[in-house]
Amino acid sequence: MKERYSLGIIGHPIGHSLSPVMHAAAARANGLGPGEFSYERFDVKPDDLATFMRRFRDGAMTGLNVTVPHKVAVMELLDEIDHDAQAIGAVNTIVRRGAKLRGHNTDVYGFIRSIAENAGMTDLSYKKALVYGAGGAARAVARGLVNGGVESLAVVNRTCDTAREMVAKLGGGAGFSAMGFDETKSLIETVRGADIIVNTTSMGMEGGTDPEGVPPGAGHIRSGQLVVDIVYSPLMTPLLKKAAAAGARTLDGLWMLIHQGGKAFEMWTGLRFPDKEVRAAVERGLEIK
Ligand code: ATR
Repeated sequence: MKERYSLGIIGHPIGHSLSPVMHAAAARANGLGPGEFSYERFDVKPDDLATFMRRFRDGAMTGLNVTVPHKVAVMELLDEIDHDAQAIGAVNTIVRRGAKLRGHNTDVYGFIRSIAENAGMTDLSYKKALVYGAGGAARAVARGLVNGGVESLAVVNRTCDTAREMVAKLGGGAGFSAMGFDETKSLIETVRGADIIVNTTSMGMEGGTDPEGVPPGAGHIRSGQLVVDIVYSPLMTPLLKKAAAAGARTLDGLWMLIHQGGKAFEMWTGLRFPDKEVRAAVERGLEIK
């Protein structure tokens, strides 16, 4: 039987991606067998990206996920780019629409859905937000918060200039601020005043450069706040442990990962993405107890 949905992920390296486990679980839950659904990993070196995309364009695959280091470079090889991907400057999902290849960024949706559905923060208006980090993930999170109408957004990054550039691209103006990692009075006040605090840096990530690290000012987190860490390995990061001990509400990064994948799955197949079943499958894959 001919496959109905032929999908994959491109990156370099690609070994650690959880996407194959997520999409296989979603396909199984929809009753799709191996002859009807496939999701492969493609390790594509930067120099080979254009050739890979030419073959993809001429072939019959349904769509692709895109991960590091191709999220920016792939954009010029597509026909259309959606609004969020354009604003962030990165694509993580490609959908074939007839003869056209369209690039999307589902991280924005994934983040917003995770805080709404898994942490109960459905209305962002009048909310004060603080984002640690100013890389690709931070831009997606910040775009979601701005789209949702937050009252203020502080970007706090080890390299303050990068935070400033990110704020300028978000539109700047009243309500936006950029800070470095010095634990100044102003940073402490921003932490204490925030309704939602999100870590997008790799601090606290297992196997990263600072697995025990927490961002500056985290000692001032208090109850009544929502603290999100988009790092999901470990699920309970040092920041989330600190936040929970202070009485704050916490949300791990696996839900954002799952919801961004769910949005891509639904765009490719039109089928339902069973997020709770997928999370259980991913946790089994991660051997999380
Ligand atoms: P991603 O796509 O995951 O956002 P990225 O674009 O490489 O990855 O961005 C990484 C972010 O994590 C940056 O904000 C980086 O800070 P700098 O701009 O100062 O480099 C931050 N980061 C990475 N390692 C860090 C560490 N050990 N301590 C603090 N911040 C770190």
